[in-house]
Amino acid sequence: MNLLRRGLLNGFDRAEALLDRVFTPVHNPLKQLGALGTLFFAVVIVTGVHLYIGYDTSVSGAYGSVEYLSVSAWFLAGVARSLHRYASDALVLVMLLHAAREFARDRYRGARWFSWVTGIVAMLLVYGSGIGGYWLVWDELAQFIAIVSMEWLDWLPIFGEPIAGIFVAPDALDDRFFTLLIFLHIALPLMLALVLWLHLQRISRAAYRPPWRAALGAMAMLVGLSVVFPAVSHPPADLARLPAKLGLDWFYLAAYPLMDRLPRAATWGGGVALLILFTALPWLPPLRRRVVAVVDLDYCNGCGRCNDDCPYNAIAMVARTDGKPFETQAVVNPGLCVGCGICVGACPPSTPFRTTVDLPTGIDLPDPSLKDLRGQTLAAAARHQAGGPRVLVFACAHGPAAATEFPASVTLPCVAMLPPSFIDFALSRHLADGVMLAGCDSSACYNRLGERWTDERLAGKRDPRLRARVDRARVAVSWVGRQSGDEFRAALSAFAARLSARAAEGDKR
Ligand code: HEM
Ligand code: SF4
Ligand code: SF4
Repeated sequence: MNLLRRGLLNGFDRAEALLDRVFTPVHNPLKQLGALGTLFFAVVIVTGVHLYIGYDTSVSGAYGSVEYLSVSAWFLAGVARSLHRYASDALVLVMLLHAAREFARDRYRGARWFSWVTGIVAMLLVYGSGIGGYWLVWDELAQFIAIVSMEWLDWLPIFGEPIAGIFVAPDALDDRFFTLLIFLHIALPLMLALVLWLHLQRISRAAYRPPWRAALGAMAMLVGLSVVFPAVSHPPADLARLPAKLGLDWFYLAAYPLMDRLPRAATWGGGVALLILFTALPWLPPLRRRVVAVVDLDYCNGCGRCNDDCPYNAIAMVARTDGKPFETQAVVNPGLCVGCGICVGACPPSTPFRTTVDLPTGIDLPDPSLKDLRGQTLAAAARHQAGGPRVLVFACAHGPAAATEFPASVTLPCVAMLPPSFIDFALSRHLADGVMLAGCDSSACYNRLGERWTDERLAGKRDPRLRARVDRARVAVSWVGRQSGDEFRAALSAFAARLSARAAEGDKR
């Protein structure tokens, strides 16, 4: 499993690095897959409503009404039909890439199981809606899908009479069947909307809207495709004969040739086994040890900063229970916590400037704890190499290996776990000449929001702020992807060069 994951991750890393150069990191479509999925789903809904107005739900009228919509083009209905199809295809594409990327980045276990499992349900609903959409056209392709699907369902011993029978005799099919189909084609996307809402429930400030340039680019691509290659139907369905040659939509119908040719037991067995395997992935080995944040009420003043900054809605502010003169206290829901430590970086008592050895704070991780961070900072400062300015690196475990392997570095589960007071501590106690924070790629924080909160804390826009007395020229950040070790090294060298130049200038004065 790990081998497969690493292979996928390398592929994504390379593709993302390439697309970063083409689109910039913020507009890179591979970093916006979930958000693009929501955009494409919205396009499918809007164009679907448009098409529904002109659709005839009868066996004899369905094909003609779709053809009329496509070619007679009342108020761009032809473009709407093509947009409906291409947005549905694009939805499948980004959804599969999004699932593969979450798997590759190991963001599906522990508390994230909920997003994973609701994602699988969303995937089934997307396929159900899309395949149902092809039936509605009632052309030869629809006839093929209908017969194969029904024969496949007939393999289950749940129907008294074989249901595929309704597609073999021309007069056995009646209009009620199309009414049922259109009902399902509307009900499944509504269920999908509900499931997607659930999908995002455990995520704070979910990125469900792509940046407007990425959205415009995606829309331009869909409209361009719709105008240049408008969606067309096959010849009308004719139950008196079998369709000869069909052009399949591989996004939705790739399984149909297999379902048609292989024994039903094999396709059912394979399909169900794959579904169970994908759904169970969060609980399959190699399992990770779970780390969950813990609140210490003796140090919690109920300020709510941890609750604001937690990217997974894992902290609730509830009425005070210990009689201290504060209205609220923080409570962590262990089932939602991913152990990123961002709350530790947000908590006011999280500071190394204390005389106590244990550094107790309002909220802390068991490993690494705030005390561990201070110990590791002192140890890293003792590893500075001779020659050049002494740079201390605080590196995110999910960023480039070049940062975590740098001798004078401290590794954190997320760079936003570092309270800004640690930077002040390192510089004012002469543990370093400069401090560099090295996180994940911008717009792709492994723990979500970490790089955003860090930037805001350093810029003095978010509590806890980096104190004004800290010389900003001695602080640098590097937001680059795991694969971009060279870029990190270049940023580090440039920072060291700036520090050396400043020191030389200081010497001259
Ligand atoms: C219709 C399809 C889908 C849409 C529109 C969608 C959309 C999204 C969005 C907007 C996010 C939040 C991203 C963020 O703010 O960081 C998200 C997160 C997530 N999605 Fe999906 N998703 C879809 C399908 C799937 C599927 C099929 C899977 C996997 C089976 C999946 C797995 C996940 C996971 C694990 C997360 C949480 C990542 C984390 O913990 O940070 N999604 N999705
Ligand atoms: S940030 Fe710290 S002090 Fe504030 S509510 Fe959270 S745990 Fe309590
Ligand atoms: S470690 Fe803190 S910020 Fe991160 S998920 Fe857990 S409670 Fe939220």
